[in-house]
Amino acid sequence: MTEKQYGGATGRGTDKISKAHSLAKALSTKPKETSINSKAQKEAKSDNGEHEKYIKAGKIASEVKKYAREIIKKDVPLLEIAEKIESKILELKAKPAFPTNLSINEIAAHDTPLFNDTRKAQGLLKVDIGVQIDGYLADSAFSVDLENSEENKKLIAAAEKGLDEGCKTLNVGVKIRAVGAAIEKAIKSLGAMPIQNLSGHSMEQYSLHAGITIPNMDNSQEKTIEEGTYAIEPFSTKGLGRVRDGKPSGIYRLEKELPVRDAFAREVLAFIYEEYQTLPFCARWIYKKFGARGLLALRRIEEAGILHNYPQLIEAGNGKVAQAEETIVLEKDKKTITTI
Ligand code: CO
Repeated sequence: MTEKQYGGATGRGTDKISKAHSLAKALSTKPKETSINSKAQKEAKSDNGEHEKYIKAGKIASEVKKYAREIIKKDVPLLEIAEKIESKILELKAKPAFPTNLSINEIAAHDTPLFNDTRKAQGLLKVDIGVQIDGYLADSAFSVDLENSEENKKLIAAAEKGLDEGCKTLNVGVKIRAVGAAIEKAIKSLGAMPIQNLSGHSMEQYSLHAGITIPNMDNSQEKTIEEGTYAIEPFSTKGLGRVRDGKPSGIYRLEKELPVRDAFAREVLAFIYEEYQTLPFCARWIYKKFGARGLLALRRIEEAGILHNYPQLIEAGNGKVAQAEETIVLEKDKKTITTI
């Protein structure tokens, strides 16, 4: 699942993200192993199985992607696809890290079916899947052409080439801008352009966007890549090469700790804390658990200013968009693409 950059490449966006990150840390009820720095403690951390959980989540994501490719056909309801993907993740003994994003044509990202959605799969469909085990994340996406279109196929090839080159370039000590430059060059070599204000991201336990942005273009960021877990996710288009905010997606994330007056809304909020912590969730999941009452409670919670509401992200020139994404665990001498 991607991250939209607001303002300049190193401007307000980064600030917002790090603020959200410290809040995510504050909200999390799990012990924060991620703040541990000393070498001995780092070793202890890997003994806790952090690495194994990243690898396992990635393997499950890879399996779920294969399953998704089998069930996705033109005119299959989006709701059915999302529910089947999320059931498959549970069946494989993990949890969704965020609602399955199914975004069609010029909608670049952050579209998930509503509980009563009637839309069907068609056009150029992006499928973005998140898997978590105890908050350790795998984030992976692919695109399918459901209308046998040369244009769609070219955009998909460009996003995939961008992803390949980005994965190759991402290494400890490499400048962040070099990863973006490699992605940009690969996409442009196939006659498309990257979406400049969407990017990949670092990840930590229960934190999908943990503060470091991996751009899809050369953004002049001289900082270098350190050990960690990263999602690389290029988006290709022949539109204007940037996205604007669209309508609310029904995807939310806990952002602030504030009181809610309504007793039932407090019950729903407690469920959200317990079940999703600081990871994204959606109205459809709340409906599934609590029915229509749950949606009313969700509105109360939203009105209390507790939630971040993700808007759909639409290509600014209404150009079609393709996406490809993998998760990479970078250690000092080892690089593992966990989701292939
Ligand atoms: Co992502």
